Amino acid sequence: MQSRELKLARHPRGKVRPDDLSLDVVTVPEDLGPGDILVRNSWLSIDPSVRMRLGPTGPAGYLPPFRIGDTLAGLAVGEVIRSRDDGFEPGDTVLHINGFREFAVIREDGDTLAGAGGVTKLDTSEHPPQAYLGALGSSGLTAYVGLQCIGELTGGDIVWVSSAAGAVGSLAAQIARLRGHYVVGSTGSAEKVRFLSEELRLDAAFDYHTPDLADALAGAAPDGIDLYFDNVGGMHLQAALSHLRRGGRVAMAGAVASYDGETANAGPNNLFQIVAKNLTVKGFRAGAYDHLLGDMRAEVGSYLRDGRLVATETVFDGLESAPDAIVAMLGGRTVGKTLCRLG
Ligand SMILES: NC(=O)c1ccc[n+]([C@@H]2O[C@H](COP(=O)([O-])OP(=O)(O)OC[C@H]3O[C@@H](n4cnc5c(N)ncnc54)[C@H](OP(=O)(O)O)[C@@H]3O)[C@@H](O)[C@H]2O)c1
Repeated sequence: MQSRELKLARHPRGKVRPDDLSLDVVTVPEDLGPGDILVRNSWLSIDPSVRMRLGPTGPAGYLPPFRIGDTLAGLAVGEVIRSRDDGFEPGDTVLHINGFREFAVIREDGDTLAGAGGVTKLDTSEHPPQAYLGALGSSGLTAYVGLQCIGELTGGDIVWVSSAAGAVGSLAAQIARLRGHYVVGSTGSAEKVRFLSEELRLDAAFDYHTPDLADALAGAAPDGIDLYFDNVGGMHLQAALSHLRRGGRVAMAGAVASYDGETANAGPNNLFQIVAKNLTVKGFRAGAYDHLLGDMRAEVGSYLRDGRLVATETVFDGLESAPDAIVAMLGGRTVGKTLCRLG
């Protein structure tokens, strides 16, 4: 059986270009070994983390970089075509990490992405399959864990979420708002600021393309902030450290401003604020909190069910569009969860 796969053609220099990736045809083995499951992928998750794996080296302690010629990996949802695992049968919908290809042979004891994406059967009777890549999947878990476990969100906290129009940010901002907090969101364009104010109904929103990020933050949260949900790093983190109130917390989910390597050394220059104001700054990877998926799905699922949470998607069609999807997502030209739909 023939399948198209997206491979790393060359290491990007700075921003990713579509031709850093190549679409190749491979043969998928017809004969499955014991425990193998053949899946036709239907949805691919397009995540910023893939950028960190495209360079010749990656951050220490993180997922290893891809080598030239490797097929990219990423969270995906697909349908079981054939199975030699007693727990799975044709027609099952499954979540796994062998994305960026049309067909995949997966195994329950296969790799995960630092705990995320172990082969799981999905019940799609209530929510569509791709929701398990976004609001009810890794994006939702990152938002939930960042607020709940890392940021220790407490009554009355004022919250700032960066990249708030994105997959994780839009969920973190809405969960905090739905729990009754004053929430500020930042993003990269006037249109997305409108999305934050009018569609996500955040209390305040601003475009970070401003001469003074600290001023913009102070305008949006004049009394300071208690929790910064950091998706961006760099100068955003610097502004947060200055504006956090005593005892404030930073939940560091990511640092997308540095992923393309062009701005890796930008800020923060005010780390002493952590000492001065008894701040707690803590990073995390959602895969380590998979045991909280049920709790997250109970809360986010209920918001989805009664229409209180907006789960916006930007969908690209066909595996051939995946390079454009990656470039668009990193360039800020997508809103909510970025997905690639196959078949
Ligand atoms: N810790 C974990 O387990 C975990 C899991 C998933 C994701 N993450 C992290 O969470 C963050 C958000 O991920 P996501 O999937 O929700 O992606 P996303 O926010 O949907 O997409 C990335 C967004 O980052 C923004 N961006 C790009 N370059 C930027 C820059 N230089 N400065 C400020 N913003 C920039 C763009 O939006 P604008 O238009 O707003 O610029 C872009 O759309 C990332 O840092 C990601 O690595 C962490």
